[in-house]
Amino acid sequence: MHVTAIVPAAGGGTRVAGLVPKQYLPLAGIPLLARTLLALQASRRVDSLILVVPPGHEERCRAEILAPFGLTTDEVVPGGEDRQASVYAGLLRTSPSTDLILVHDGARPFITPPVIQAVVDAAAEAGAAVVAMPVTDTIKLARPDGWVAETPERGRLWAAQTPQVFHAGLLREAHIRAQAEGFRSTDDSALVERLGHPVRLVPGLAENLKITTTADLALADQILRARDRGTESAG
Ligand code: CTP
Ligand code: MG
Repeated sequence: MHVTAIVPAAGGGTRVAGLVPKQYLPLAGIPLLARTLLALQASRRVDSLILVVPPGHEERCRAEILAPFGLTTDEVVPGGEDRQASVYAGLLRTSPSTDLILVHDGARPFITPPVIQAVVDAAAEAGAAVVAMPVTDTIKLARPDGWVAETPERGRLWAAQTPQVFHAGLLREAHIRAQAEGFRSTDDSALVERLGHPVRLVPGLAENLKITTTADLALADQILRARDRGTESAG
């Protein structure tokens, strides 16, 4: 099965305070986005890779993210106004002959080969699969005026992560339909769910966090230190 990865990395990173956009922020010396791409490459389940970057950042990404780490991609394409538009820009460049499309946030550098393998296998079988974690907080559904509307039963709630993997035709249909109907979502699974297609949940790892706020940088540092200690004791 040929797997094409689309990595949306075209966001402004506005919730991380800093002088450089979060894609380029070094995590123990390696830029966040380079770490994400290295992690995908390490899985060996990804055959083609399409990187989506902020418009105008194509050359900077090649020079600062790809070249220094020996990374190659099939395409570097400019993204759109929101995440959905960026994934769609990537979708337009996928080969018509790819079997599966894996979408993985550029801001999730800690994804591991076993989790990638599990979600790709699940999608090959089910057509659609997403990595997710059971939530540990009790979640409140809010009314627009800031009062609690209801409390869904926690045992049934999962927090969606990426990768999210789909049969290529299914993801294309989902995006085209959402686009036509003016539906916007922060994840691809929601677009596929709207078609009525079932989506499998694949348990992920807490460390597969999305670097979203400045506080996440400290967590990222801890994860990298823990990994270093793991390698030392293994060696
Ligand atoms: N993304 C994208 N195109 C956009 C917006 C977001 O490709 N127009 C990507 C981001 O680069 C990130 C992923 O979607 O890899 C998840 O988005 P998020 O964590 O919200 O990142 P940003 O949008 O960059 O950050 P912020 O919302 O704080 O500005
Ligand atoms: Mg955003």
